[in-house]
Parts: sequence; structure tokens; C-alpha cells
Amino acid sequence: MRNILITGGAGFIGSHAVAHFLTHYSDYTIINLDKLSYAASIENMATFASHPRYIFVKGDISDSALIDKLFVDYDISGVIHFAAESHVDNSIHQPDIFVKTNIVGTFTLLEAARKYWKNNTTNRFHHISTDEVYGSLGMDGFFSEDSPYAPNSPYSASKASADHLVRSYFKTYGLNVVITNCSNNYGPHQHKEKLIPTIIRNALNNLPIPIYGNGKNVRDWLFVKDHCLAIDKVFHHAKTGEQFNIGGNQELSNIELATLICKLLNEFRPLAKGKDYCSLLQFVSDRPGHDFRYAINSQKIQQQLGWHALTDFISGLNQTLNFYCALT
Ligand SMILES: NC(=O)c1ccc[n+]([C@@H]2O[C@H](COP(=O)([O-])OP(=O)(O)OC[C@H]3O[C@@H](n4cnc5c(N)ncnc54)[C@H](O)[C@@H]3O)[C@@H](O)[C@H]2O)c1
Repeated sequence: MRNILITGGAGFIGSHAVAHFLTHYSDYTIINLDKLSYAASIENMATFASHPRYIFVKGDISDSALIDKLFVDYDISGVIHFAAESHVDNSIHQPDIFVKTNIVGTFTLLEAARKYWKNNTTNRFHHISTDEVYGSLGMDGFFSEDSPYAPNSPYSASKASADHLVRSYFKTYGLNVVITNCSNNYGPHQHKEKLIPTIIRNALNNLPIPIYGNGKNVRDWLFVKDHCLAIDKVFHHAKTGEQFNIGGNQELSNIELATLICKLLNEFRPLAKGKDYCSLLQFVSDRPGHDFRYAINSQKIQQQLGWHALTDFISGLNQTLNFYCALT
């Protein structure tokens, strides 16, 4: 039996990951530490809340006394660290909480692992990060694991800082760490503030669908369950100290994405008098420091660990639409 600490398991990706590890590893007990911020949702945990190998702890990752106690009480032998402030727009208006959670919180977890695991090199600390640490691309090229860090928002800067701390605990203390940097995730249970839920919700409520700037900014989209499969591969099979980029090879500009969702909704839930959801699209002032394009080269994880995305984009979007349409 292994006791694995998952942080942020009441959020979007973390809740999918808790479900994944409970389903696929019958010898794992999952301790989910989440402070239940505004971004968390009790419903995200509904499918596993009463699972016999699941324990929920409400608390803050920067509370060192609590983290130390969890390591001792549950004899934690692995950490998969999702908990973060995750919304770029919020980081522009309130950067301090991003520094506290994303940097100090990660440091607190690393310190507990270092103290409690001592010279154990089997127990693994997996840090979940973002491709946004690499900054912005032009029309061409892809981020690789060798791309220089160039974060542009307080969010991406705080994630980049955390990545550097994690790396330093490997180089300095020999802690068994791995880092994954993933592109934009989509799927059921994402918080309503994010782009795809906003497009769907506003469309279904007949409200303007806001698109930043000229809508030409490009993102690479990955279905959340494919991200969990990649994390599984890296957590179990990657070499210590390694870093992997994870992407869906599914690039779209924001306006292309919004138009596609509107077209799917035209079929899925037609409006009266043949009105097109696309008529709700509305360009709004751009986000300050808005990165133009992210695109991921996932060759390393594909070649070394045999991972590739399984869900095609339309099927993933349909699953996502089903979820949000059932709520509205
Ligand atoms: N969503 C994406 O597209 C994406 C892409 C790449 C990487 N990531 C990374 O994946 C991770 C999860 O992202 P998400 O979209 O699921 O985020 P989310 O905002 O949906 O969930 C974050 C969770 O962390 C919890 N949390 C926040 N601060 C905490 C604290 N101080 N202590 C304990 N719990 C705390 C929240 O309550 C919430 O449940 C983040 O580290 C993010 O940087 C996200």
C-alpha cells in the first residue's frame, strides 16, 4: 500500500487525477489536500468522496505545521502537486496570493518532503506546471523542454519560480522530483472563469461571448483525461529530475475555438428562428501582457514514455458541452 498526497484535488485537473489514481491503482490511498478556494468544487469530488481509499483534508499548502503532520500521520510516499492559483486574469489584479500559494506553498511541500523522506530516493515529488513558463511564441516554432523560461504574467512567473525551486531540490538535496509543463486543458468540471466554460455558459444564457483583442491568440488544447494519463506515465516511469512537456497538438486561435463551439451548439441546442450562436461573439479589450501563442513539442514524453493523447478534439469538446449543457 502507498499513501499518495494529491494537492488541489478539489479543482479541475486535480479532481480528474484523484479519480484516475483511485481507479487505476488499487494499492493507493489518496490523501487530497485542498483549501477549497473559490476555484474548488465539492461536486468535482462527488464520484470518489466516499471511496474507502480516499481521505480529504481541508487545508493550505503553505501551512507548514499541517503539511509536516500529514507526512507523519499518513507516511506519505508520493506527492502529486496541483494546488495553485491558476487564473491569469486574477494574477494581474491580485498577484500576492499567487506568490503565497504557488511559490511559498510549493516550497512548504518541498521542505516537508525533504525533511520526512531524508535520503529516500524512491518517494517521488511530481510538480504540475504549465507551458506558460516559457512565455510567448510567434507564428512558428514549439516549446521544448530546452526552451528558456520567459514568463509574462504574475501567474506564469509564480509557476516558473516554483519549477525552479523543485529543480533546485533535486540538484541540491537529491530529492526525487519530476516536473511536467502542460498546455491548456479542457473538459468537464473546469471552473466557470476559464475560456471554454465562459464561451459555453454565455452562449447558453444568450449573453455576449467575450473574446480578448482580435481573437488571434493561439492556444494548444489537451483533454484533461489525457493530461492525467501523461501524469501517470511520468509519476511512475520517468527518470528522477526529468522535465516533460505535455501538449495536445491541437492549436486553435481563440476566435476559431469560440466559433467551433458556437457551431457545435447550433447542432447541440439550436436557437429559435435559426439564430446562430456566433452572433453572440464580441471582441473586448485585450488582456495586458497577453501571450500570443503557446504550442508544445511533446516528442520527449511520446518517445521516452510512450504517451500520446487519446481523445480527439471534437469528441472531447462534445463531452465538455454535454457536461455544461446539463448544468444550464
Ligand atoms: N488548467 C489548465 O489548463 C492548466 C494547464 C497546465 C497546468 N495547469 C496547472 O495544473 C494545476 C491545476 O490547475 P487547475 O486548472 O485544475 O486549477 P483549479 O484552479 O481548477 O484548481 C486549483 C485547486 O487548488 C486549490 N488550492 C488553491 N490554493 C490552495 C492552497 N493554498 N492550499 C491548498 N489548496 C489550494 C483550490 O481550492 C482548487 O481546488 C495548477 O498547478 C496549474 O498551474 C493547469
